[in-house]
Amino acid sequence: MKTITAMLTETVSAAFESCGYDPSLGTVMVSDRPDICQFQCNGAFAGAKLYHKAPMIIAEEVAGKLSDSSIFSKAEAVRPAFINLTLSDEFLAEFCRNIAKDEHLGVEQAERPSTIVIDYGGPNVAKALHIGHLRSAIIGESLKRLARACGHNVIGDAHLGDWGMPMGLTIAYLSEKYPDWKCFSEDFDPEKDAIPDIDVKELNEIYPAASARSKEDSDDGRAFKEKAHGMTLMLQSHKKGIYDLWKKLVSISVGDIKKICSQLNVDFDYWYGESDADEYIPELLDLLGSKGLMHESMGAMVVDVAQEDDKAPMPPVMIKKTDGSVLYDTTDLATLIQREKDFKPDNVWYVADKRQTLHFEQCFRCAKISGIVRDETRLEYLGFGTMNGADGKPYKTRDGGVMQLQMLLDTAYAAARERISAENFTAAEEAESTARKIAVASIKFGDLINHRTKDYIFDLDKFLSAEGKTGVYLLYMVTRICSVLRKLGIEDSGDISIGDIYTDAERQLMLCIALTGEAFNRAFTERAPNYICENAYQLAVLFSKFYHDNHILSESDENKRAAWINLCRLVKRMLEKHLDILAIDTVEKM
Ligand code: ARG
Repeated sequence: MKTITAMLTETVSAAFESCGYDPSLGTVMVSDRPDICQFQCNGAFAGAKLYHKAPMIIAEEVAGKLSDSSIFSKAEAVRPAFINLTLSDEFLAEFCRNIAKDEHLGVEQAERPSTIVIDYGGPNVAKALHIGHLRSAIIGESLKRLARACGHNVIGDAHLGDWGMPMGLTIAYLSEKYPDWKCFSEDFDPEKDAIPDIDVKELNEIYPAASARSKEDSDDGRAFKEKAHGMTLMLQSHKKGIYDLWKKLVSISVGDIKKICSQLNVDFDYWYGESDADEYIPELLDLLGSKGLMHESMGAMVVDVAQEDDKAPMPPVMIKKTDGSVLYDTTDLATLIQREKDFKPDNVWYVADKRQTLHFEQCFRCAKISGIVRDETRLEYLGFGTMNGADGKPYKTRDGGVMQLQMLLDTAYAAARERISAENFTAAEEAESTARKIAVASIKFGDLINHRTKDYIFDLDKFLSAEGKTGVYLLYMVTRICSVLRKLGIEDSGDISIGDIYTDAERQLMLCIALTGEAFNRAFTERAPNYICENAYQLAVLFSKFYHDNHILSESDENKRAAWINLCRLVKRMLEKHLDILAIDTVEKM
């Protein structure tokens, strides 16, 4: 289904044309002044320059043509030369009727669907998921669902951090803590020798300790770092024992990561890691070598990617270190070879922290000049801002440490549990699962309501409030509609037939429904789920007003009552669709 502005643009363009003007002047937008009109067209200004005429004359001619149309209740030219438009109730109701019949609820489907790979989440093996991964996971999940809802073919990939120096550090640390483990000895036999079990909690504590030790300015620190380099290299050359230990670390860690992701409704089509790019590294080296792009620099192999018009320094991409080990840039480039082979994507989106801008710029340039990706492939880095604490600095635990994601979820759950009314629930499990959903909804909505590029302050009290732009408010609104339908004995299934418009509150609500397609388009174009949050909130507020103004339960006029009930059902479906894009579960009651 076309969006409403696209439809209106067709009508207004035809009016321009029939007055003898270029139809491209007829672009219609949502009004800047909703108090005056619903839509506007500013084409008369450009027309005035083109045809050397007073703009107001053109606006008046075109508005005159439009005023007969059944689409508008009002089409008027207003000084200096705006064309202000307000829809007729018949047209607005008809448009909403079509939305209700449309399986995509009015969300425009891509004419030529793109294949989009979304690289998001980016959890690291043997490192507990911390809040830095929260944003990537929830923004990425939402972008994936949004792009799918717009008709694209979307592939989500976790791109686990499982292949670089952090793994070497973890393994080096384990080799000192457990020197007797068979995997560290030369005569390790994968057929006979098992790798001992490691508790995930212990595993997650190792990396921070190992990383701190390698940074110490002491002989021990330097020697340890050297050892970790050695382990990284052994891992990357698949040395038996080390490689087997690594496989075990990955499986323990990924099990834990999956658990947390599922609490957040985050799921990947592929759980590929940096290590899966390993088999494409020889091809990458060949390609860069044969094109003469790679050269030696202080023992390392690098590719220059600076351009003449660079305003800031652009260091070369480091492909291979002096010791032969490969780096973050290398695996990202090799991963593009793999993605090209497996998926031939039109777009690759990377949802990662804003601080990785340079890394991605370097990789993208290298991928283009070397021809790893086709000219027409669009590589997009979708950076996001930081989640801060009340002090405006990156969110920390009470004692100043890095907040683990599980701890954050548990804190939100405990707070949500206190707020729901126990008497509403007969079974304890039901109360618990509701509180979990509320906790997740509040965290996710609190994040996604901000444009992804912005920093925001994590304020659990605010996020859990039942008023204002919160996930809780939206969940509450859905439960309210459910309860109205229950009271009316309405089974919410099957077709919805939208009736006529009787009151102003309905008109406003229907206009918001009609504009939903625009919100989805904008969110998709800007890769920004906050427009989905915003639209969901508007729908909820207008629903609330509509419900307050019109007494559905006591209404005696059959037609009115039926129209209102159907509108309730449509709003419910719409809200559920928005929440599904945000990967937020609804609740029955709270
Ligand atoms: N694992 C990385 C980190 O924690 C994020 C990965 C982002 N994606 C990528 N293709 N480099 O910082």
